[in-house]
Amino acid sequence: MATQALHSAMVDSGGINREHMVQARLMQAVSLALTRGEDLSETMTQLSDYSRAHFLSEEVLMRLYSYSNYLAHQQDHERMVEWLDELLAKKGEQVAMAHAIQELTAIFLRHIGSHDVYLHDFLADLSA
Ligand SMILES: [Fe+2]
Ligand SMILES: [Fe+2]
Repeated sequence: MATQALHSAMVDSGGINREHMVQARLMQAVSLALTRGEDLSETMTQLSDYSRAHFLSEEVLMRLYSYSNYLAHQQDHERMVEWLDELLAKKGEQVAMAHAIQELTAIFLRHIGSHDVYLHDFLADLSA
């Protein structure tokens, strides 16, 4: 199920969705590196840095257009940043990392499929 949702996120196109595709690919790269027992440091740092920048870009858009659901959306970003920090702190703990990346992927995909879809629709309506 997560793979199918990941695929949906990856085949999406346009503006913000391209950034979600990059996030999905980075999460997949982390999972793959974990499965292969490779060093995760660089991919994890890329996922973390990219996600933070992406969240900020959405927050700028939400503030710019006085998006009414800003607070709930921004708080969800905050929770994901906390998860990313926890994940970075687990480096070297393979089993804990595997569990955490699975949960984080599910959380990211839930966010993309809810908060980000609402924001995308809101922004699309603005330009219609
Ligand atoms: Fe978002
Ligand atoms: Fe997003």
